[in-house]
Amino acid sequence: MPEFKNMDDYNGKIKRIIVTKEEIDEAIRKAGKQISDSYDGRPILLVSILKGAFVFMADLCRAVTVPCEIGFMCAKSYYEGTVSSGLVKITMDLEQDISKYHVIIVEDIIDTGRTLKDVVALLKSRNPLSLRVVTLLDKPSRRVVDFQADISLFTIPDYFVIGYGLDCGEYYRNLPYIAEYSE
Ligand code: IMP
Ligand code: MG
Repeated sequence: MPEFKNMDDYNGKIKRIIVTKEEIDEAIRKAGKQISDSYDGRPILLVSILKGAFVFMADLCRAVTVPCEIGFMCAKSYYEGTVSSGLVKITMDLEQDISKYHVIIVEDIIDTGRTLKDVVALLKSRNPLSLRVVTLLDKPSRRVVDFQADISLFTIPDYFVIGYGLDCGEYYRNLPYIAEYSE
């Protein structure tokens, strides 16, 4: 990862913008309405997987117009080749007892599908009232395990993308849009 002397170096790694801030805002407004309409009156827990989904979570929870709670967890999956070891390492767990909630996992991107497949299995074993997954981005062409989100805001080709919470070597999370990273 290069050392950036200034913002010109930083922005020089942006090949092109894939999803603009305006497109993100509009899609989140719709997803927030969909969630608000279908969960109204029920106990909702939005669960964000750190770190990548923190920006999406911040905007999505403000587009939800019914009462909801939020929670965070940090998870990594371990695989041998393409086969899940069945182990998802939780480096930071939820504090809530999810058996009392309709859980909505809020994820930044589904790539191979490994992380979410394992996180969903883990959270289901804790008997939530229901469990659904909303993802900002989906790269279906990269899937190595069978996994589909319930709500996906944008489907993108096999590009490595940065911005709006997504990083490359921990940089670029603060860009307000989704861009293709220039190698
Ligand atoms: P998985 O391969 O579906 O398990 O995705 C694991 C994680 O890899 C995602 O939650 C992201 O944090 C990260 N990731 C996958 N594709 C990209 C990308 O294009 N840019 C930045 N991070 C990515
Ligand atoms: Mg992630």
